[in-house]
Amino acid sequence: MSITYKDDAGIEGMRLACRLASEVLDYLTPLIQPGVTTLEIDRLAAVYMQEQGTVSATIGYQPSGYPPYPGHLCTSVNQVVCHGIPNEKPLKKGDILNVDVTVITPDGWYGDNSRMYMIGGEAACSVQARRLCQVTYEAMWKGIVMVRPGIRLGDIGHAIQTYAEGNGFTVVREFCGHGIGQKFHEEPQVLHYGRPGTLEELKPGMTFTIEPMINAGKRDIKEMGDGWTIVTKDRSLSAQWEHTVLVTPTGYEVLTLSAGSPTPPAFVTASATVPA
Ligand code: MF3
Ligand code: CO
Ligand code: CO
Repeated sequence: MSITYKDDAGIEGMRLACRLASEVLDYLTPLIQPGVTTLEIDRLAAVYMQEQGTVSATIGYQPSGYPPYPGHLCTSVNQVVCHGIPNEKPLKKGDILNVDVTVITPDGWYGDNSRMYMIGGEAACSVQARRLCQVTYEAMWKGIVMVRPGIRLGDIGHAIQTYAEGNGFTVVREFCGHGIGQKFHEEPQVLHYGRPGTLEELKPGMTFTIEPMINAGKRDIKEMGDGWTIVTKDRSLSAQWEHTVLVTPTGYEVLTLSAGSPTPPAFVTASATVPA
């Protein structure tokens, strides 16, 4: 296994897969309300993907040592860091929820993205929960804006870590972003912490995710008995955002954008987010 560099056809394949993955979240956004269960969200997403002509990459996904993943998407509530399995428990006002969607197009390309939702709206959530969601979103973008040929993966990790820890939060170490293409998880690993000038050098045609998991308390995590669900060891809140990006000859293109994508933070220059 090694890094795959996408040619023009591959880039077109990735653009489509990633836009469709983002459109699943656009579709779900108005449906994510107090009283709805994450299993209902999962079922609605499954129907929508079928209408799109995509399939979920997560349902039945089974890396070695894991049981098959049972959801069409991941739903991680409050202290759940990632890989939360959709269940029958209704969402309640003040919860924070990450929905992580990965689709596969008929041509076999993967698009992977996630967003945070504040259940019942911002006003229903604690100040800490709001700050955590916002800082995590900004931390992801601090990593994204680093992306261009010649920089190294350690530069991305360092930017994310510096921003998250500078705001009093911690970075989960056990899970990372990843190369993506016609496989779900490809090389390289994209760590959300690190030292400038270290690790792999970025080159045009690379596509990978940036998906920091940021905790309000300590960074330590724990796996639950279902073999998938990851929670914070101290049960503090955890947030995550994820985009899939392409390294272009001059910088980056965020592939997982669609009509409903939240606007980037003010420090992101508008010209950098759209295809050249
Ligand atoms: N979508 C997740 C990621 O960002 C992976 C989920 S794997 C699952 O890499 F099996 F838990 F769904
Ligand atoms: Co991912
Ligand atoms: Co994902």
